[in-house]
Amino acid sequence: MSKLVEILPDKTALIERSLNLITDQITTALATQDRFTLALAGGSTPKPLYEALSQKALPWHKIDVFWSDERYVAPDHADSNEGMARRAWLNHVPMSSTQIHPVPTQSADPEKDATAYEAEIRRVFNCPSPAIPAFDLILLGMGDDGHTASLFPQTEALKVKDRLIAVGSKGGEPRLTFTFPLINQAHRVIFLVSGENKRPALAAIFAPEGDGNEYPSRFVCPQGQLWWLLDQAAGGALTPLSH
Ligand code: 6PG
Repeated sequence: MSKLVEILPDKTALIERSLNLITDQITTALATQDRFTLALAGGSTPKPLYEALSQKALPWHKIDVFWSDERYVAPDHADSNEGMARRAWLNHVPMSSTQIHPVPTQSADPEKDATAYEAEIRRVFNCPSPAIPAFDLILLGMGDDGHTASLFPQTEALKVKDRLIAVGSKGGEPRLTFTFPLINQAHRVIFLVSGENKRPALAAIFAPEGDGNEYPSRFVCPQGQLWWLLDQAAGGALTPLSH
């Protein structure tokens, strides 16, 4: 794994940098492969990035989009990560419905929907169990408690090693999430982190020693490249890093 930490002056610069990095990665990869598999982060940080992506001329027909986690709500619910990405981006670019793979959240049985999403991922990648599919790029956010996707501190989902999708829990509410084995199989992972409130968790995550069960983002160490793109408000106390 190569790990790079970039600290951008403000959120606008963070979004601009992430847009350029992502479009470069897509373009470069598609010069030597036919498809590009992308998993989207939820939450609020990536919304302006998705809006900016909607304005780019990329080979959209070659890209398959998934979500690295989802709240257990309908896609038209205000909290839906799928709904946000569709409104900000996917509704505005020429992608067929067969390229967009939302997390199922409507069976009233989160475990059943987690199993269904894993089956969909395995189908698209043509990757039967027990192999683990390698996403070309996974986008992640980080909460001020150090969680990522829906892998929250001291939850059972952190321990799942034999599945691609687990049922996470936030305040008793179910969420569906990529597991660490799936995240860490990726060729590229980009964290997008903005805001002063994220500083304490970042300090714990970048500390030489620490407990990933307390700060789950510590467990993200993909086989490929890891980028932390931070704005100054979030990452000002850290040292930029590239190796
Ligand atoms: C979600 C996310 C979650 C998010 C972080 C950061 O569904 O909420 O995937 O992991 O990325 O909580 O959220 P903000 O970007 O809103 O700070």
